[in-house]
Amino acid sequence: MVEIRFSTRRVADPAAVTADFLMVPIVEGEGDAPILRRLDRKLGGSLLRHARELDFRGQEGRGLLHRVEDRATPRNIYLAGLGKPADRTLEQWRRMAAAAVRAARSEGARRAAVFFPKAKTEEVIAVAEAIALSGYRFERYRQRPKERKPELSQVSLAGPHIDTRRAGEGLEDLNAVLPSVFAARDLVNEPPSVMTASALARRAVEMCRGGAVRVEVMGFAAIRRLRLNGLLAVNRGSVEEPRFVRMRYRPRGRRKLKVALVGKGITFDSGGLSLKPAGSMETMKQDMAGAAAVCGVMAAVGRLKPAVEVTGYVSSTDNLPSGSAQKPGDVIRFRNGKTVEVVNTDAEGRLVLADALTLACEEGHDVIIDLATLTGACRIALGTQVAGIMGNQKDLVDRLVEHGREAGEMLWPLPLVKEYRDDLKSSVADLKNVGGGFAGAITAGLFLQEFVDGGAWAHLDIAGPAFADKDWAYCPKGGTGFGVRTLIRYLMSL
Ligand code: BES
Ligand code: MN
Ligand code: ZN
Repeated sequence: MVEIRFSTRRVADPAAVTADFLMVPIVEGEGDAPILRRLDRKLGGSLLRHARELDFRGQEGRGLLHRVEDRATPRNIYLAGLGKPADRTLEQWRRMAAAAVRAARSEGARRAAVFFPKAKTEEVIAVAEAIALSGYRFERYRQRPKERKPELSQVSLAGPHIDTRRAGEGLEDLNAVLPSVFAARDLVNEPPSVMTASALARRAVEMCRGGAVRVEVMGFAAIRRLRLNGLLAVNRGSVEEPRFVRMRYRPRGRRKLKVALVGKGITFDSGGLSLKPAGSMETMKQDMAGAAAVCGVMAAVGRLKPAVEVTGYVSSTDNLPSGSAQKPGDVIRFRNGKTVEVVNTDAEGRLVLADALTLACEEGHDVIIDLATLTGACRIALGTQVAGIMGNQKDLVDRLVEHGREAGEMLWPLPLVKEYRDDLKSSVADLKNVGGGFAGAITAGLFLQEFVDGGAWAHLDIAGPAFADKDWAYCPKGGTGFGVRTLIRYLMSL
């Protein structure tokens, strides 16, 4: 994977841009805008003729690859459909850019340019974001790269209205975010026997190095002292030690809000003694994606230095069966005193999150947000592109949904139906760890809520979008880094 260098340039004539692949976003219905006509004239009328032949008018999701055999500057032109202006979102710009840059890569371009006939700075940055994100590859375990094309390494963002100063600032912020998304994807993609709880904690330290975040790693003894009994219970089946990581960022000056981020860090979920079938286990290395996102956000926070205090908590172990593993019927006494009957050891995520939520509440945060690949039920309800979001304050949920929409990470609210709380009643303990069979995502949310005491809280069930089961527009199959960009946008807005 090669890092892409972006440059910006204010220029009126697309023919003046040097690149071996020129991408031009086209709004539907503006197919023969003056700039396009000028470009077309330089090419002797072949470009617009080609567009007419293929009925390309800038429709959303469509693109036109026009190969130019010019002796002086042999390069390809790609007209990228943006759709109608009325319903255009930043995500449409990203998807357009992702399709265009896929064409650029398959043509073997090294140096590409995007020529914006017109665009706002945030749209230009969204395009750069999608181009950069789509360049991610996880190739550590391959003898040679999958694609053997020359690598795209330079992209110029050009156009008559480019505000080079503001775009430069946007690119700088982007450069603080991209490594976090890539690192979160890496953490998920690593094989589960490599990405153990202790390895995850070490990566958290490495990712935050050099920034303004202080990282504390708690091992077995400290976890016992903190009475993180849910984490200890799940860890009983493992030969690996658990880890609890706390990452703290304090802004200079008078502190405003305190925000906590809590991540589920199950490095492999076999289900424990309530063993999963083989097929359901195949991608269970993804079960630390919530933790990966929290580490990614904290690393970015250390670089971007928002105005609010942010603390990341990661609760990590694998979930395996063994002679010492917790058993269905066991009862855990949690840090906040509540007892839980473990009916199904595969509902382990809520067990490792419970004490982390309690701890966050004790440390007095105004906002607590947890991220977890928590339930297959959420994946069934919302599919692989959308995360479920639940919470105790509508305003927080609404804001996160809105930042998610801008980031291109879809969140959809699910109701914490009070009536379903009865499904968590146990005959021997205060609660049991599974619900009644229906609304599994909601009963999991209700379970977590039992460990939230004060403050606004939102729970993101990312079991769907944490892991792409096939290539996405700007993310290859595997870990997606879902949540990182939404949460950074949220934190920077405070
Ligand atoms: N890690 C899984 C949830 C999951 C499923 C994540 C698919 C990503 C993709 C979680 O620990 C789990 O096993 N949940 C159970 C809960 C059940 C036992 C109440 C489930 O969803 O089946
Ligand atoms: Mn499980
Ligand atoms: Zn799990």
